[in-house]
Amino acid sequence: MYEAVIFDLDGVLCSTDEFHYLAWKKLADRLHIPFDRADNRRQRGVSRMESLEILLEKSDVSYSEEQKRELAAEKNAEYVRLLQNLTEADLSDEVRQTLNALRAMGLKLAVGSSSRNTRTILEKIGLGGFFDAVADGNDIRHSKPDPEVFLVAAQRLGLAPSVCLVVEDAQAGIDAANAGGFDSCAIGAAAGYAAAKFSLAAFAELRELVEQAGSGRNGKAAG
Ligand code: BG6
Ligand code: MG
Repeated sequence: MYEAVIFDLDGVLCSTDEFHYLAWKKLADRLHIPFDRADNRRQRGVSRMESLEILLEKSDVSYSEEQKRELAAEKNAEYVRLLQNLTEADLSDEVRQTLNALRAMGLKLAVGSSSRNTRTILEKIGLGGFFDAVADGNDIRHSKPDPEVFLVAAQRLGLAPSVCLVVEDAQAGIDAANAGGFDSCAIGAAAGYAAAKFSLAAFAELRELVEQAGSGRNGKAAG
Protein backbone atom coordinates (compact mmCIF):
# COMPACT_ATOMS: atom_id res chain seq x y z
CA MET A 1 0.00 0.00 0.00
CA TYR A 2 1.43 3.37 -1.01
CA GLU A 3 1.59 6.33 1.36
CA ALA A 4 2.78 8.82 -1.28
CA VAL A 5 3.14 9.47 -4.99
CA ILE A 6 6.18 11.40 -6.25
CA PHE A 7 5.70 12.99 -9.66
CA ASP A 8 8.21 14.05 -12.23
CA LEU A 9 7.23 17.49 -13.58
CA ASP A 10 8.12 18.05 -17.25
CA GLY A 11 6.08 15.66 -19.40
CA VAL A 12 4.13 14.23 -16.45
CA LEU A 13 2.27 17.04 -14.67
CA CYS A 14 2.47 19.43 -17.63
CA SER A 15 3.67 19.57 -21.23
CA THR A 16 6.77 21.70 -20.63
CA ASP A 17 8.78 18.87 -22.22
CA GLU A 18 7.67 20.34 -25.58
CA PHE A 19 9.14 23.75 -24.58
CA HIS A 20 12.42 22.01 -23.71
CA TYR A 21 12.42 20.48 -27.19
CA LEU A 22 11.69 23.80 -28.93
CA ALA A 23 14.37 25.66 -26.97
CA TRP A 24 17.06 23.02 -27.64
CA LYS A 25 16.00 22.86 -31.30
CA LYS A 26 16.43 26.62 -31.66
CA LEU A 27 19.95 26.43 -30.22
CA ALA A 28 20.83 23.41 -32.38
CA ASP A 29 19.61 25.16 -35.53
CA ARG A 30 21.68 28.25 -34.72
CA LEU A 31 24.78 26.07 -34.24
CA HIS A 32 23.94 23.98 -37.37
CA ILE A 33 23.83 20.79 -35.31
CA PRO A 34 21.35 18.07 -36.33
CA PHE A 35 18.81 17.56 -33.56
CA ASP A 36 15.57 15.59 -33.57
CA ARG A 37 12.91 14.13 -31.28
CA ALA A 38 14.99 11.00 -30.65
CA ASP A 39 17.88 13.17 -29.37
CA ASN A 40 15.37 15.08 -27.24
CA ARG A 41 13.98 11.86 -25.72
CA ARG A 42 17.46 11.14 -24.35
CA GLN A 43 17.46 14.58 -22.67
CA ARG A 44 14.35 13.78 -20.63
CA GLY A 45 15.06 13.66 -16.92
CA VAL A 46 18.72 14.62 -17.12
CA SER A 47 20.17 17.96 -16.05
CA ARG A 48 20.53 21.04 -18.26
CA MET A 49 24.29 20.55 -18.72
CA GLU A 50 23.92 16.84 -19.45
CA SER A 51 21.19 17.70 -21.96
CA LEU A 52 23.62 20.10 -23.65
CA GLU A 53 26.26 17.36 -23.87
CA ILE A 54 23.72 15.14 -25.67
CA LEU A 55 23.03 17.95 -28.16
CA LEU A 56 26.77 18.55 -28.70
CA GLU A 57 27.47 14.88 -29.49
CA LYS A 58 26.72 15.70 -33.14
CA SER A 59 28.79 18.89 -33.22
CA ASP A 60 32.12 19.08 -35.06
CA VAL A 61 33.17 21.99 -32.86
CA SER A 62 34.54 21.47 -29.38
CA TYR A 63 33.45 24.08 -26.86
CA SER A 64 35.18 25.24 -23.67
CA GLU A 65 33.41 24.83 -20.33
CA GLU A 66 32.69 28.56 -20.29
CA GLN A 67 31.19 28.43 -23.80
CA LYS A 68 29.07 25.45 -22.71
CA ARG A 69 27.74 27.43 -19.77
CA GLU A 70 26.84 30.24 -22.17
CA LEU A 71 25.07 27.83 -24.54
CA ALA A 72 23.10 26.32 -21.65
CA ALA A 73 22.17 29.84 -20.49
CA GLU A 74 21.05 30.71 -24.02
CA LYS A 75 18.80 27.65 -24.15
CA ASN A 76 17.43 28.39 -20.70
CA ALA A 77 16.62 31.99 -21.62
CA GLU A 78 14.55 30.75 -24.57
CA TYR A 79 12.94 28.06 -22.39
CA VAL A 80 12.04 30.60 -19.68
CA ARG A 81 10.65 32.89 -22.41
CA LEU A 82 8.38 30.03 -23.56
CA LEU A 83 7.36 29.33 -19.95
CA GLN A 84 5.90 32.84 -19.71
CA ASN A 85 3.01 31.53 -21.84
CA LEU A 86 2.06 28.98 -19.18
CA THR A 87 -1.15 29.56 -17.26
CA GLU A 88 -3.41 27.55 -14.98
CA ALA A 89 -5.15 26.37 -18.16
CA ASP A 90 -2.00 24.33 -18.89
CA LEU A 91 -2.79 22.07 -15.97
CA SER A 92 -5.20 19.60 -17.56
CA ASP A 93 -8.48 18.69 -15.88
CA GLU A 94 -7.29 15.08 -15.95
CA VAL A 95 -4.16 15.85 -13.94
CA ARG A 96 -5.93 18.23 -11.53
CA GLN A 97 -8.76 15.80 -10.83
CA THR A 98 -6.43 12.85 -10.41
CA LEU A 99 -4.18 14.76 -7.99
CA ASN A 100 -7.23 15.77 -5.95
CA ALA A 101 -8.54 12.19 -5.94
CA LEU A 102 -5.19 10.81 -4.78
CA ARG A 103 -5.04 13.38 -1.99
CA ALA A 104 -8.61 12.52 -0.96
CA MET A 105 -7.45 8.89 -0.67
CA GLY A 106 -5.02 10.06 2.02
CA LEU A 107 -1.85 9.96 -0.06
CA LYS A 108 0.92 12.49 0.30
CA LEU A 109 1.94 14.07 -2.99
CA ALA A 110 5.38 15.31 -4.01
CA VAL A 111 7.41 16.46 -7.00
CA GLY A 112 10.85 15.13 -7.91
CA SER A 113 12.22 17.01 -10.93
CA SER A 114 15.69 17.66 -12.35
CA SER A 115 14.54 21.12 -13.44
CA ARG A 116 15.84 24.25 -11.76
CA ASN A 117 12.68 25.96 -13.08
CA THR A 118 10.34 23.71 -11.07
CA ARG A 119 9.04 26.34 -8.63
CA THR A 120 8.29 28.82 -11.43
CA ILE A 121 6.38 26.20 -13.41
CA LEU A 122 4.36 25.00 -10.41
CA GLU A 123 3.37 28.61 -9.63
CA LYS A 124 2.35 29.27 -13.23
CA ILE A 125 0.11 26.20 -13.53
CA GLY A 126 -1.55 26.94 -10.19
CA LEU A 127 0.21 24.26 -8.14
CA GLY A 128 2.50 26.53 -6.11
CA GLY A 129 2.08 25.36 -2.50
CA PHE A 130 -0.03 22.35 -3.51
CA PHE A 131 2.51 19.58 -2.89
CA ASP A 132 3.57 18.15 0.47
CA ALA A 133 7.19 18.22 -0.72
CA VAL A 134 9.13 19.45 -3.73
CA ALA A 135 12.66 18.37 -4.64
CA ASP A 136 14.22 19.82 -7.78
CA GLY A 137 17.39 20.49 -9.71
CA ASN A 138 18.47 23.08 -7.15
CA ASP A 139 18.53 20.46 -4.38
CA ILE A 140 20.73 17.82 -5.94
CA ARG A 141 24.24 17.09 -7.15
CA HIS A 142 23.40 14.08 -9.31
CA SER A 143 20.47 14.04 -11.70
CA LYS A 144 18.46 11.05 -12.89
CA PRO A 145 19.24 8.14 -13.38
CA ASP A 146 20.76 8.80 -9.95
CA PRO A 147 17.94 8.48 -7.38
CA GLU A 148 19.00 11.60 -5.40
CA VAL A 149 16.05 13.85 -6.30
CA PHE A 150 13.49 11.19 -5.36
CA LEU A 151 15.35 10.34 -2.14
CA VAL A 152 15.29 14.04 -1.18
CA ALA A 153 11.54 14.17 -1.92
CA ALA A 154 10.88 11.05 0.19
CA GLN A 155 13.03 12.41 3.00
CA ARG A 156 11.05 15.68 2.94
CA LEU A 157 7.84 13.64 3.14
CA GLY A 158 9.31 11.69 6.05
CA LEU A 159 8.67 8.40 4.24
CA ALA A 160 10.71 5.39 3.14
CA PRO A 161 11.09 4.85 -0.63
CA SER A 162 9.32 1.50 -0.33
CA VAL A 163 5.96 3.21 0.38
CA CYS A 164 6.29 5.80 -2.43
CA LEU A 165 5.29 5.37 -6.07
CA VAL A 166 7.27 7.42 -8.62
CA VAL A 167 5.56 8.55 -11.85
CA GLU A 168 7.91 9.33 -14.75
CA ASP A 169 7.99 10.01 -18.50
CA ALA A 170 11.77 9.49 -18.81
CA GLN A 171 13.61 6.19 -18.91
CA ALA A 172 16.34 7.86 -16.81
CA GLY A 173 13.64 8.68 -14.26
CA ILE A 174 12.37 5.10 -14.13
CA ASP A 175 15.95 3.90 -13.63
CA ALA A 176 16.38 6.51 -10.87
CA ALA A 177 13.22 5.37 -9.09
CA ASN A 178 14.24 1.72 -9.28
CA ALA A 179 17.76 2.51 -8.05
CA GLY A 180 16.32 4.34 -5.04
CA GLY A 181 14.06 1.47 -3.99
CA PHE A 182 10.83 3.10 -5.19
CA ASP A 183 8.10 1.44 -7.23
CA SER A 184 8.16 3.04 -10.69
CA CYS A 185 5.30 3.93 -13.00
CA ALA A 186 5.99 4.91 -16.62
CA ILE A 187 3.79 7.26 -18.60
CA GLY A 188 4.07 9.18 -21.89
CA ALA A 189 7.45 8.82 -23.57
CA ALA A 190 8.51 6.11 -21.09
CA ALA A 191 5.29 4.07 -21.35
CA GLY A 192 6.12 0.46 -22.06
CA TYR A 193 9.71 0.79 -20.81
CA ALA A 194 10.48 -2.73 -19.61
CA ALA A 195 12.28 -1.61 -16.44
CA ALA A 196 9.15 0.14 -15.11
CA LYS A 197 7.04 -1.76 -12.58
CA PHE A 198 3.87 -0.24 -13.99
CA SER A 199 3.03 1.45 -17.27
CA LEU A 200 0.04 3.70 -17.87
CA ALA A 201 -1.60 4.92 -21.09
CA ALA A 202 -3.22 7.88 -19.30
CA PHE A 203 -2.60 9.89 -16.13
CA ALA A 204 -6.13 9.21 -14.86
CA GLU A 205 -5.33 5.47 -14.66
CA LEU A 206 -3.10 6.28 -11.69
CA ARG A 207 -6.09 6.40 -9.40
CA GLU A 208 -7.07 2.81 -10.20
CA LEU A 209 -3.48 1.61 -9.93
CA VAL A 210 -3.13 3.08 -6.43
CA GLU A 211 -6.53 1.71 -5.38
CA GLN A 212 -5.58 -1.76 -6.56
CA ALA A 213 -2.24 -1.58 -4.76
CA GLY A 214 -4.13 -0.60 -1.59
CA SER A 215 -6.48 -3.55 -1.90
CA GLY A 216 -3.55 -5.96 -2.33
CA ARG A 217 -4.24 -6.66 -6.00
CA ASN A 218 -1.40 -6.53 -8.47
CA GLY A 219 -2.20 -3.35 -10.36
CA LYS A 220 -1.39 -2.99 -14.03
CA ALA A 221 1.92 -4.50 -15.01
CA ALA A 222 4.21 -2.82 -17.52
CA GLY A 223 4.32 -3.75 -21.19
C1 BG6 B 1 13.90 17.79 -16.67
C2 BG6 B 1 13.74 17.64 -18.17
O1 BG6 B 1 12.65 17.82 -16.07
O2 BG6 B 1 14.60 18.99 -16.37
C3 BG6 B 1 15.11 17.71 -18.84
O3 BG6 B 1 13.13 16.40 -18.45
C4 BG6 B 1 15.80 19.02 -18.45
O4 BG6 B 1 14.96 17.60 -20.23
C5 BG6 B 1 15.92 19.10 -16.93
O5 BG6 B 1 17.11 19.08 -19.03
C6 BG6 B 1 16.57 20.38 -16.46
O6 BG6 B 1 15.69 21.45 -16.68
P1 BG6 B 1 16.03 22.98 -16.44
O7 BG6 B 1 14.68 23.65 -16.41
O8 BG6 B 1 16.75 23.08 -15.13
O9 BG6 B 1 16.90 23.41 -17.58
MG1 MG C 1 9.95 14.38 -17.43
